[in-house]
Amino acid sequence: MQWWIRCVSVLGILPLITHSFQAQYNGDQVLRLMPTDSEQVDYLRQLVENERIDLWKPEFPEAIQPRGEVHARIPASALGTVKGELKERALQYSVLIQNIQELLDKQIESEGEQSLSTRAHSYTKYHPMEEIYQWMEEMKENYKELVTQHLLGITYEKRPMYYLKISRKSDKPKKIIWMDCGIHAREWIAPAFCQWFVREVLETYIADPKTDQFLQHIDFYILPVLNIDGYIYSWTKDRLWRKSVSPCVNSTCFGTDLNRNFDANWCSIGASRNCCSNIHCGSAPESEPETLAVAGFIRKHQRDLLCYLTIHSYGQLILTPYGYTNATASNHEEMMRVGEKAANALEQKHGTKFKVGPSSWILYYSSGSSRDWAGDLQIDFSYTFELRDNGTYKFILPENQIQATCEETTAAVTTIVQYIYDKHFPNSALAVAALWFSVLASCLLSMFSANLL
Ligand code: ARG
Ligand code: ZN
Repeated sequence: MQWWIRCVSVLGILPLITHSFQAQYNGDQVLRLMPTDSEQVDYLRQLVENERIDLWKPEFPEAIQPRGEVHARIPASALGTVKGELKERALQYSVLIQNIQELLDKQIESEGEQSLSTRAHSYTKYHPMEEIYQWMEEMKENYKELVTQHLLGITYEKRPMYYLKISRKSDKPKKIIWMDCGIHAREWIAPAFCQWFVREVLETYIADPKTDQFLQHIDFYILPVLNIDGYIYSWTKDRLWRKSVSPCVNSTCFGTDLNRNFDANWCSIGASRNCCSNIHCGSAPESEPETLAVAGFIRKHQRDLLCYLTIHSYGQLILTPYGYTNATASNHEEMMRVGEKAANALEQKHGTKFKVGPSSWILYYSSGSSRDWAGDLQIDFSYTFELRDNGTYKFILPENQIQATCEETTAAVTTIVQYIYDKHFPNSALAVAALWFSVLASCLLSMFSANLL
């Protein structure tokens, strides 16, 4: 074959393969293990330590206990030896997931099937970054009177970070509700929710602009993907990538956990200075351009910011400050009340149960998170959402759960927004009540005068 024919044909299939990963997880299995004594427990902990297994359950190696179930991903390369050792030690196991790569490929393939540029944006699929950029363009075109797109900053790899502002024209001063999604690359359900929520707000408004009270006083600022470089890396190189992609000095590893990089007791607890760690805090607070962009923006608008929401997965939690200490925010009681209310509304939708509380109480200690930082800044309502699931699929939530997850999360977020709105704009709520009262009164009056009472 002529070299140029070869080139053309190779280039021709390129669009088809741009979203297939390097097969990082081919043959990897998830095993369910049941250690029975301390010797077996020690053996498993040491496997985690030597990175021969990737612990899925429990949370930390220290939490592995005799007779406690352990879930772990075993890389294909270690599978033979590890299984041999398990047999030798009479450590019982069964296979939970046969081949992780197959699970991952399913999500990517379904993307490939749909990739015609003409089709409408699907809110029940995961989207690669270029489609999310395109979606933002469409939103601002289709909802010109409500949506504008703004540049927040530039990522390490020089990509633009845009947020959407949903704002109804008004001469009154506006307050702000902030939401960011996708600070952790592999948590694909988070950006999917940001997209869903934008549509939800817009369609509620379009359906009946008069009843949409929120938008008279409140603007939504929504950043659909915070960690754009990392998100792309999770689509193209490693589906389970968590961090950003910036390099570190004196290390062959790379990437900062952007949710350890904020200036909230930075790198003191539940964070690591080691660049190879998944919870690497970076070289200094706000050392990463993505963190600096978000923090800079929030500092600038903090007086108007009523609420900071950051969307993650998984664990089914609504987290309040703090992660870096077991002390709580000054308005802890109120945040708990509102959080519980949101969790109840969420459960009403599909029966999914969420826990509410400070990260250090119900998840783990972590320093440098954006939620804690916003809490320290005295932003009244600062919550992290950990969406579905509860540990079966973890970061690889199947697409058939996107819709239900987004519906229930919308119910929770709306509950929080409604509470904040009523709290800050009691007059408008009163005005609505007064309107009803006068309708009722005039009704009674006319019945009275017609001798009906
Ligand atoms: N989004 C959180 C993180 O990446 C989730 C942690 C996993 N959830 C869990 N229950 N362990 O830090
Ligand atoms: Zn996360």
